[in-house]
Amino acid sequence: MNKKSVIISTDPGIDDAVAIALALFSEQLEVKLICPIFGNVSLENTKLNTEKLLTLYKKSPRIVLGSHKPLLRKSINASNVHGKSGMDGYSFTASNILVDETITAAAAMHEVVNQSDDKTTIIGIGPLTDIALYIHLYPQDFKKIEKIVVMGGSLGRGNYGVLSEFNFAADPEAAKIVFDSGIPIQVAPMEVGRQAKVMPEVSEKIKKLGAIGDMFYQLFSKYRGGSFATGLSMYDALAIGLVLNPTMFDIVSTRVEIETTGLLTAGASLIDLKGYLDLPANAEVAVSVDPKQFEEWFIEAIAKTI
Ligand code: RIB
Ligand code: CA
Repeated sequence: MNKKSVIISTDPGIDDAVAIALALFSEQLEVKLICPIFGNVSLENTKLNTEKLLTLYKKSPRIVLGSHKPLLRKSINASNVHGKSGMDGYSFTASNILVDETITAAAAMHEVVNQSDDKTTIIGIGPLTDIALYIHLYPQDFKKIEKIVVMGGSLGRGNYGVLSEFNFAADPEAAKIVFDSGIPIQVAPMEVGRQAKVMPEVSEKIKKLGAIGDMFYQLFSKYRGGSFATGLSMYDALAIGLVLNPTMFDIVSTRVEIETTGLLTAGASLIDLKGYLDLPANAEVAVSVDPKQFEEWFIEAIAKTI
């Protein structure tokens, strides 16, 4: 079967590190481009982290530097969750892979989408700034985009703001551009990341899955997206799961609106499951995930990195 052509916009980020590996080592996907972006930590650090990860993974997809800040607002970060470097807890070897800084992420996405025979799936597991810039600049590419799959938003309360999840809070205007685009969208909101926590016994199994599994285990020890003892939320892995193993989710087609004008609510995702807004659906939202199926898939997918 033809491998699915994939682009990943990411802000590594401990859960991003896992998600990138799940995609790179999958036999179903051809990761054609990875674009590090600001987010969990500064662009300088997400760039370095991407270089370190791909060196350790011994994989060499095209890597092009993304945006260093949101479209309009000041940058926020999540170093309180991922550590100052964005991947605290593990001493990586020197990188031998460098990020291309000679072209923008949007232009690189345009090149990759147009060089692919098949349609391309674009995965956003950080702020959506570069995906928004790409679709704003190249509307002629829409017919060659399979779908945009994002980890972001929340069915209820947020994990960064009272009502906003981090990726959408980091660039609300970018998220709005993506959801208003009319391109097929799938969303893994933060709740599915919390339903499918990585429990201690799973972390112990992952530790034994080769050098990469051991690296994940060491990163998990510093990760503050939950706790080692009560379970870790691997948010970004759920977006990869939507692409690779969608049957483990309950998915609902509905309207998603992004708040951009609220003084206190910017970045909130209004996932309109009850149709209050009386607007046509613009996204498929994973409203729940089977934790057992996720656990089995997650361990099997990480085992492919050995
Ligand atoms: O809210 C979780 C999201 O924010 C994840 O993508 C995590 O890596 C952070 O970027
Ligand atoms: Ca992320």
